[in-house]
Amino acid sequence: MRLSQEKINEIRQSVDIVDVIGEYLPLEKSGRNYKAICPFHDDKHPSLSISSQKQIYKCFVCGAGGNVYTFLMKYLNISFMDAVKMVADKANIDLSEYDIEPVRVKIDNQYQSLYDIHKEAVRLYNYYLNTKLGLEAKTYLLKRHFNNDIIKEFQIGYAPLESVLYSSFQKLGYKEIDMVKSGLILENNYHSDRFSDRIMFPLFNADGYVIGFSGRIYKPTQTNAKYVNSPESDIFMKGENLYHYHQCREAVKQAGFVYLLEGFMDVIAMYKAGIYNTVAIMGTALTHGHIRLLRRLTHSVYLCLDGDRAGLSAMAKASQQLIDAGFNVSIIVLPDNHDPDEIYELQGEAGLKAILKKTYKPIEFMMDYEYVDTNNYDERKQYMEKMCQHISKLSDNVDKDYYSHLFSQKSGFSFEIIQQRVSGIQQPVIEYTNERKPITYEDKYQKAEHDLLFYMMNSREVALKYEAKAGFMYDDDYRVIASYILDYYRHHSILEVADLIDRVHDEKLISKIIDISQSHLPLECQSQAIDDYITTIGENARKLKKQQLLEQFNYILDPYQKAQILDEILKLNEEQ
Ligand code: UTP
Ligand code: MN
Repeated sequence: MRLSQEKINEIRQSVDIVDVIGEYLPLEKSGRNYKAICPFHDDKHPSLSISSQKQIYKCFVCGAGGNVYTFLMKYLNISFMDAVKMVADKANIDLSEYDIEPVRVKIDNQYQSLYDIHKEAVRLYNYYLNTKLGLEAKTYLLKRHFNNDIIKEFQIGYAPLESVLYSSFQKLGYKEIDMVKSGLILENNYHSDRFSDRIMFPLFNADGYVIGFSGRIYKPTQTNAKYVNSPESDIFMKGENLYHYHQCREAVKQAGFVYLLEGFMDVIAMYKAGIYNTVAIMGTALTHGHIRLLRRLTHSVYLCLDGDRAGLSAMAKASQQLIDAGFNVSIIVLPDNHDPDEIYELQGEAGLKAILKKTYKPIEFMMDYEYVDTNNYDERKQYMEKMCQHISKLSDNVDKDYYSHLFSQKSGFSFEIIQQRVSGIQQPVIEYTNERKPITYEDKYQKAEHDLLFYMMNSREVALKYEAKAGFMYDDDYRVIASYILDYYRHHSILEVADLIDRVHDEKLISKIIDISQSHLPLECQSQAIDDYITTIGENARKLKKQQLLEQFNYILDPYQKAQILDEILKLNEEQ
């Protein structure tokens, strides 16, 4: 059986768009609607508005808009039918009697073999961890309080001293070029493994595919690099991935924030303490790629890098980057140069949790971080200038005042001078406004067409009146939208915008339809007003027709045709 438009609409109505988008994006309630950071452009502020009442979403910055299907298609890069199937799954609607293909797994086929190779490597490394060859590695893990659950959750394995991957890969028919591309096999005559005698931590991408490894030494006799990572490849880009990203979503949603940690050992330590809303940057600086990933996760980040000088300096930088990107940032300073794993080992779950409770605002952290404990006046003044810069960036005047006072006590400079400095620092004007841009119309005709479309969407009667009395809109897009609306009313008496847009296959038109449907026009409209719109539109149509005829009249030489055109022009004049 074919899936009808009616069934597709019924499936759509069985879920709430707010719940579905909420699975992928953090949402904020805003009046009757919800808001989110738009995932379809480089957004800093929540510009995406989701209407539960209308079951549509719309970004007022980039214009992306649609219904739950449009969202899933665009966000997951899947086909329309896959989106319908996904929604049906969520609503437990059985589609087995319909002829539809199963949901395509979202994967770039081009890289399928690289993913497969990694999957096989995970299996082999897991296997070797539980053999005699892996005994010492396993003992090391147990000593560090890894149990079998954790080993399974993080799919930890062991790469033996002797190479093991090539023969297995060969049996499975992988091409040598792909083995080398994966970074797991070296390009030499022996096809040796890159990783040898190391504990192996798989690295996953946002979709949960293994894309690389980090291998750790585990015995005192090993003196080379503590960790070796997979080289960057077509599927592994260090700056584009966060450790534990694909596993933390539910926990982040529950907690309302994510802990940003330095290494995967810290993620695992937190896991041991029952804390799952964690990701790690794996010892690199925070990149734009990381920030993009975080944006899709939450608005609130708790920075908790190592407590050593390098970690503190990285936190100062990362916190500014995150603030600039629009996040709420909190900072946790770990004592005695420790990392979360060391704290867990020394103080246990309760100790770690107690330390995590103490959070600083970035401005408080900076006051301590930049602090110079010296009598050198120039250095102290420099400290003051730096902090005034930071204070001036606070958006709330109460915060500004409070921290200026606090800083005055801490630095010994007077409140008045600090306040003077702070207010003297110009902040760049942010072009962002939280308001929808008002629509500008080219002329009164275009506005009439726009408004009439709004009322046509709300009433079949109005639509039929338009069809009977005008039947034409000058604006090309509006004309097409009007015909979609008329077509919709041939099968329905009430128009649902979220359903209508499933018949439209042009993103620009969908965006316009949503805009029109959300116009701030009074819902009640006198029939006289509708007539006025139609008259205005008709007037415009005649005016344009006349112009066209006049042009023809001047252009055509045949006197008989000229007379005909003149006749038409006169008729148009009479109609007015
Ligand atoms: P750390 O040196 O802080 O490691 O490096 P760690 O997390 O405390 O690990 P343990 O407890 O000593 O086992 C933090 C991150 O930096 C990267 C790794 O991703 C690590 O998780 N790193 C570190 C490397 O890539 N190579 C190295 O040689 C060291
Ligand atoms: Mn550590």
